Amino acid sequence: MSVAQGSALLHFTRNGAYGPDGAELLVLERGEGAYVFDTHGNRYVDGLSSLYCAQIGYSFGEEMGAVATQQLQELAFNTMWSTAHPRALELADRLAGLAPDPINKVFFTSGGSESVEAAWKIARQYHVANGEPQRLKAIARRTAYHGVTLGALALTGVPAYKEIFGPPALQVRHVSNTNAFRSELQGEALTAKLLAELEATILEEGPDTISVIVAEPVQNAGGCLVPPPGYWPGLRELADRYGILLHADEVITGFGRIGEWFAVERFGATPDLITVAKGLTSAYAPMGAVLVSDRVAAPFYEDNRTLLHGITFGGHPLSATIALKNLEIFEREGVLENVNEHEAGLQERLLTLRDEFTIIGDVRGAGFFWAVEFVKDDQNTRLDADERERLLRGYMPQAMLDAGLIARADDRGDAVMQIAPPLISDDAILDEIVEKMRTVLRGAEAVVLG
Ligand SMILES: Cc1ncc(COP(=O)(O)O)c(C=O)c1O
Repeated sequence: MSVAQGSALLHFTRNGAYGPDGAELLVLERGEGAYVFDTHGNRYVDGLSSLYCAQIGYSFGEEMGAVATQQLQELAFNTMWSTAHPRALELADRLAGLAPDPINKVFFTSGGSESVEAAWKIARQYHVANGEPQRLKAIARRTAYHGVTLGALALTGVPAYKEIFGPPALQVRHVSNTNAFRSELQGEALTAKLLAELEATILEEGPDTISVIVAEPVQNAGGCLVPPPGYWPGLRELADRYGILLHADEVITGFGRIGEWFAVERFGATPDLITVAKGLTSAYAPMGAVLVSDRVAAPFYEDNRTLLHGITFGGHPLSATIALKNLEIFEREGVLENVNEHEAGLQERLLTLRDEFTIIGDVRGAGFFWAVEFVKDDQNTRLDADERERLLRGYMPQAMLDAGLIARADDRGDAVMQIAPPLISDDAILDEIVEKMRTVLRGAEAVVLG
């Protein structure tokens, strides 16, 4: 008997696919380390960290529960609206200490989309305060996902998520992302081409009409698109040349996913704004934040200027205390060190899959954030729409569950399988993930090649 979703509407889901005559809905009820268990007791290795969230895995509930209980007994809630509470203040200082200088101010939200919109509004107010109210546009990248609330959706570069909702809330130009696999140019030549396109777009729109450039350090949608050398310093240079703010959306890449607190540190540029969520609490509670440089924050400290944005639950004490504990666990357990220690080994394992399977054309990523791209043949021919439907939505979801693996099959860009293991994963867990991928890929090859 398959399980239906009852009264719940599932997010980004074909809701009608489940029910008495449909597929079984995966209902997870327990976690331990890098593993999750469904209501039948089946065990899965969580190769996606619950959508890039569960950095420290699932075994810290007791410790998190203890600080949560203490906080709820002390004070369940206070806002950050002209008032505050100790844990959020402490967390803001902690994050300012972790972020690269001169990023020293923190605005709390309840999640990623809210962070992206808050960053947009902070940037806007900064420009207005500096006498440049005409800076109303943004530049983002094709296929990038920055969230779904209407402002964030305008920045998102996935047409299928946007078009039916009418004209976008913000004026955004989307430029090429850093997909090296599908580019004729590589390395610095690719960087030069991408930056030239960006600069041409800035000039076409009018440099003094642009408020922000928004980019993920490693772009998720499209399959872990790593920047070519010099790309982030190039973004920084163009932003500075034209008075534009640079916003790194680190909702996925922040908090160790790439082996650093913030992935931009690896790619050699300091942005003006960093958005985070997910890994900030390792999802033991919902929370997001915008981290802001001193320069961008300065106008908000001037006489008589109000920061015109606020979210009731932004900086909730429960989430703040859990985020603080999460950061403590990161340091105590050597989470960043673990990612850096295992990154090369994970890449090597995935490269063996590329050698084994015709349908894998590319392996790319960084840290604990990797994608394999599906192709039809040795010429790296893309799968057509029908093949993608059969493979990514027909075969893979159930095949992955049957193998005891949670991973992602996605074609917002080209067709990929993506993994993002919990950052506490050791060699045995990485071996298990890759072995389960191998099982799924054997069937996938049969689906594509017949
Ligand atoms: C880069 C990026 N920005 C923003 C968001 C939106 O975050 P949320 O789903 O918490 O609103 C996501 C979600 O996956 C994301 O990956």
